[in-house]
Amino acid sequence: MTIKKKPEDLRSYSWFGPDTMRGFSHRSRMLQLGHRREDFVGKPVIAIVNTWSEINPCHAHLRERAEAVKRGVLQAGGFPVEISAFSITETYMKPSPMLYRNLLAMDTEESLRSLPIDGAVLMGGCDKTTPGLLMGAISMNLPAIFLPAGPMLRGNWNGKPLGSGTDVWKFWTERCAGMVSDEEWKGIESGIARSPGFCMTMGTASTMTALAEAMGMTLPGASSIPAADSNHVRMAMDSGQRIVEMVWEDLKPADVLTLAAFRNAITVDMAIGGSTNAIIHLVALARRRGFDLPLPLFDEISRHVPVLANIRPSGEFLMEDFYYAGGLRALMDEIRDLLHLDCRTVNGKTLGQNLEGARVIHPEVIRKRNAPLMESGGTAILYGSLAPDGAVIKSVAAERRFWQHTGPAVVFQDYRDLEARIDSEELDVDENSVLVLQNAGPQGGPGMPEWGMLPIPKKLLQRGVRDMVRISDARMSGTAYGTCVLHVSPESYVGGPLALVRNGDAIALDIPNRKLDLLVHEAELSLRRSEWTRPVSKDQRGYLALYRERVTQADQGCDFDFLACVADPSTEQ
Ligand code: FES
Repeated sequence: MTIKKKPEDLRSYSWFGPDTMRGFSHRSRMLQLGHRREDFVGKPVIAIVNTWSEINPCHAHLRERAEAVKRGVLQAGGFPVEISAFSITETYMKPSPMLYRNLLAMDTEESLRSLPIDGAVLMGGCDKTTPGLLMGAISMNLPAIFLPAGPMLRGNWNGKPLGSGTDVWKFWTERCAGMVSDEEWKGIESGIARSPGFCMTMGTASTMTALAEAMGMTLPGASSIPAADSNHVRMAMDSGQRIVEMVWEDLKPADVLTLAAFRNAITVDMAIGGSTNAIIHLVALARRRGFDLPLPLFDEISRHVPVLANIRPSGEFLMEDFYYAGGLRALMDEIRDLLHLDCRTVNGKTLGQNLEGARVIHPEVIRKRNAPLMESGGTAILYGSLAPDGAVIKSVAAERRFWQHTGPAVVFQDYRDLEARIDSEELDVDENSVLVLQNAGPQGGPGMPEWGMLPIPKKLLQRGVRDMVRISDARMSGTAYGTCVLHVSPESYVGGPLALVRNGDAIALDIPNRKLDLLVHEAELSLRRSEWTRPVSKDQRGYLALYRERVTQADQGCDFDFLACVADPSTEQ
């Protein structure tokens, strides 16, 4: 450990050290809490930023884990303080938990800024929590280490493993088609989530925690440990110990999160067949750090990175299997040649050093380079007259026969319209139709709800149809699948071309050539544009009004425009 700070240099010392009236006041209130002066004066004060709440099952174990982190902090000579942060619970927050990622980021940044904190352990994992915590920590730029909440154990029903989200969509589709009984449905409901931890498919949670590790923001191997495994407790303690050293070393997010680290994250995202949501989050994280990650960079990297993680929804297994197969370190070891191994990580070592000794134990779960799940391209970025600023598709989760497809549009003006008409017998739709959902983007949703996997109309389900081309400015759950074109930018709510699509218009999707076109004559589109008016928003006050006014488009990460990168704020008090 290279010590760069003396006790008097600690940020917290400017609160607790001075023999002033304010210093007196700050110390006296810690004494009120029962601490001794020597416990906190001149010691690294570590915030354990806890996103636990009683209505967040993914983080149900984080109060216990906070105790393990505290043990580690104390053993290393620091002073731990657990603080709560906004708990984003994916399952319950409507219309979209994505609305609150930026709120968590602000909560994290402002808590770290306003309190006498020298370093932080960020605890979370449910989808938006990882980017929210990291965005705040990047903007504040105090030493920080991310502690992934860990995936839950694999689900179980009738002896079959069940995967979060993925198997819900699958069995719900079968139930709508009349293939699953009430009794069976109840059994699935009881068996699909049976331990603390986040969704154990390669959804957004598993993707983002893996990317946090790939970028060097967790201890090596941390992201793959199941929440219920006792190794997770030890990892929490180790994170507590390490953050104290990081404070003395003055190792900050800006030192770890270089452009090369972000490139590593994109590479790993492709190799794990990660969630499409990761693109938005990585763009937002990078912009907090002062880097632009243009969408074509994702496509460029996607084209030469093989998909190796055989995990649902793209593959067969679950995150518990991934851990037993060697975890993320083993996967990264397989793609060493595609990574920047000299990137520094929070444990003070380089990524390359952290991969030493890693190996794939079960090659059916983590595929070897010579037998990938897909040669390349888990995700594709599309451009064209329907998406001038880009759109995203998880090609690995789409049926091959739709990779090049032209069909007539069946348009839904918003989600209510979709709910009202999708199963109507009168709906003029067949398996070649292209389902289009408007007004589900960053401002239109608002918050880009995960409505992008539009349901297949019931009458087609009953005829055996299980996939169709679907297009929207919404997002899709990382656990979902199908030929779903997402994040169409600019969104329809601000008058993007998606707003101009009408029933029967021909739409051409061409994944190999990365094209998405609305085959309507420009003169007709001009006429429609002149007639178009923005839908009336009912969110006239509060956070939703602020969100609508200041959120950026999907290709810019959906952050607030006023939270752009600024000079190092950690030196400010
Ligand atoms: Fe929390 Fe899926 S609901 S990760």
